[in-house]
Amino acid sequence: MQRTPAWKLFSLLSILAGCAPAHPPSEASYFHRSSTSLQLTENTSWNDQWWLAKTSRALRGGNSLSKKEDAAALLAQGKEKVVDQFLKDPRFADTILDFSMMVLGYRQDLIKYGDGQYNYLAFQHPQAIRASKEVASDGDFFRLFDLNQNLYMPQLASPPRYLYPEDSALSDSALRLKIFNKMQMGMDDLIALSTQLSAKQPTSNPEVCKKYKEYTDTYLNKDALGIALSVSFNQMYRAEYYGTVNSYCYSAMQKPFDFVSEFTKIKTKNALLFSLLVPFEKENYKPTSVSAIQSLDLSGVLPTYRNTQFSPLLAANSLPNSSTNYDRKRGAYILKRFLCDDLTPINVENPSTHAGDAHGTNPSCFACHYKLDPIAGFFRNYGAGFMDFTGANNIRFDDNASMKLVDYVKAWAPGPNTDHPLNVGYIRSTQDLSKNFYGSSLDDLFTFLKTAPEARRCIVRRAYEYLVSPDQTIDGDYLNYLTDAFNEDTLTVGSSRGLKNVFKNIVLGKAFGTQNADHDTCYDRKPGYFSDGTEAPCKVSSILAQNCVKCHASTDDSGNLDLSHWQKLPDGSYGFPHLDGNGDLMPAAKTFQMMIDRISSTDSEARMPYRSDMPSQDRQQLFNWLNQAIGPGVAK
Ligand code: HEC
Ligand code: HEC
Repeated sequence: MQRTPAWKLFSLLSILAGCAPAHPPSEASYFHRSSTSLQLTENTSWNDQWWLAKTSRALRGGNSLSKKEDAAALLAQGKEKVVDQFLKDPRFADTILDFSMMVLGYRQDLIKYGDGQYNYLAFQHPQAIRASKEVASDGDFFRLFDLNQNLYMPQLASPPRYLYPEDSALSDSALRLKIFNKMQMGMDDLIALSTQLSAKQPTSNPEVCKKYKEYTDTYLNKDALGIALSVSFNQMYRAEYYGTVNSYCYSAMQKPFDFVSEFTKIKTKNALLFSLLVPFEKENYKPTSVSAIQSLDLSGVLPTYRNTQFSPLLAANSLPNSSTNYDRKRGAYILKRFLCDDLTPINVENPSTHAGDAHGTNPSCFACHYKLDPIAGFFRNYGAGFMDFTGANNIRFDDNASMKLVDYVKAWAPGPNTDHPLNVGYIRSTQDLSKNFYGSSLDDLFTFLKTAPEARRCIVRRAYEYLVSPDQTIDGDYLNYLTDAFNEDTLTVGSSRGLKNVFKNIVLGKAFGTQNADHDTCYDRKPGYFSDGTEAPCKVSSILAQNCVKCHASTDDSGNLDLSHWQKLPDGSYGFPHLDGNGDLMPAAKTFQMMIDRISSTDSEARMPYRSDMPSQDRQQLFNWLNQAIGPGVAK
């Protein structure tokens, strides 16, 4: 995927031709013009060509129109047909791969290398590969949230060459075979030595162990097979492979130990693993489309192996778990990436109703920790290197500290009820616990994400960020409209077609089709939207409509505050109509400050929305907007 000059060329030409608007229209002027009059003021042909190039890249894994494709003929069919055609293109799966990686928190420039092979990082995101394969075959996109994944394989890496410098001319596969044969000869030597010594030394075999360590140092720890990028040698040290011998040799060596049968088993598994790897040699395997990516089935070699690596971000290096962190880094990742909850610091929820004592008494801590700690609890059995310690006595962390698992888990006690003895879940309300999702295992969390309304809406938001821009303001009602359609489609025609429709709606929308779009403008509105010019700014209007307007629809309502309108106030500022004790309109900034105080109050009688819940994502967005508005002000 190359950055196309065509893209830049089109925008440059359109500027030279004078068709790009010098300034993006302000929200008010934009929406007061009807869409047809807007079209007439622009040179449709250049803008359409620009749109076509952009859409091709967006929906076909970064690929521009080919020389064979006739832009005019494509556009003559109408934009909708063009989009339908691009969505059927096999390269749309590359777009979904790229998009899914972005959902997981990883944005990369190049999804494929120059030779058409996938960027290695894609294989570290098996969930993303799975999701894109599903969309390519009209399957279930939400397998993105399957915790256990296939081990999708890149081409095998070159085996290390230093072991046999004299064989520099050998191909990768021939060299790998040679190394494999040496490994098996090494096993034969170990078997012979153990046979020879076993009568003499039934319990302690230091010679055998010494030779075994030489073997593992040469072949396993230095990754002589060149497979560590796919199958880490940690996995090979599992009890079902090298692990039994390993623990014998590295522990007291006191019980009688049957080396011969253990080494024979290892030798058989070596042979099986090697035969499974051969199909992934460069000369046998060149996946250039998502559907051609194959997975390695390790069940014969490592029957209990589960590929739970959700993404490199969840794995050890990026989201380590220390003995004091209590999985909060991992919990924050889940809230931010999949539930679009950015954990903005506002004192918002009522500490007195908090069950546990995890900073529960300090409102400024509680603001985040009431939801962060319970979501972190799903990870409580996962210690160092994202290893699952379920059932073990002790859990070890990435900082090498360890503690008794039963004691560690007490951090999440007590839970809401006897069915859920631990406070592990997704907390929507601290007042009405029936609104919350409580679970226990990581599988519970990922199952929840497949259907949670917040996760659905977050996916749609990510699609908008992905296609338009991460900074583009989205009207909440439009986002809800797309999300409702996505949910409906998921039930009727399936999640893959639903996601395609989300993409289709967005690329046919106004923000995507506007060159140099103004990030503060809401270009896209749900069908039937009509502006009379008096509604609140679009960043917050739907939040206010859903959470506040039922009690604040006019200046006769509660607090003489009207949160459904927006107007120029006597002091020249723009804001909400709000009367003081004398019946005079208050300055906007004063109302904003009162709103900030009310939505962040910890006093349950003062806190707004009065005696009701509000999604924390909405509260954060309103809070951020108010703080910004109180500074430079918000005009319209
Ligand atoms: C804005 C949201 C927010 C607020 C407010 C907040 N925290 Fe946290 N806290 C987090 C997040 C997110 C993490 C995980 C950070 C990480 O490890 O990267 C965290 C981690 C922690 C940790 C673990 C640190 C470690 O890694 O050892 C402790 C302890 C903690 N918070 C205590 C508090 C206390 C006490 C307060 C109140 C004074 C507080 N937090 C307020 C979001 C918040
Ligand atoms: C269930 C009804 C209800 C909802 C919903 C509600 N409020 Fe209120 N609000 C009231 C009542 C009643 C008052 C007046 C009593 C008081 O001052 O607490 C009030 C007062 C206020 C005041 C103080 C006005 C003044 O002049 O003193 C502000 C600011 C406010 N609300 C903001 C909000 C915001 C922002 C929302 C939405 C996030 C909201 N309210 C949602 C009922 C509600």
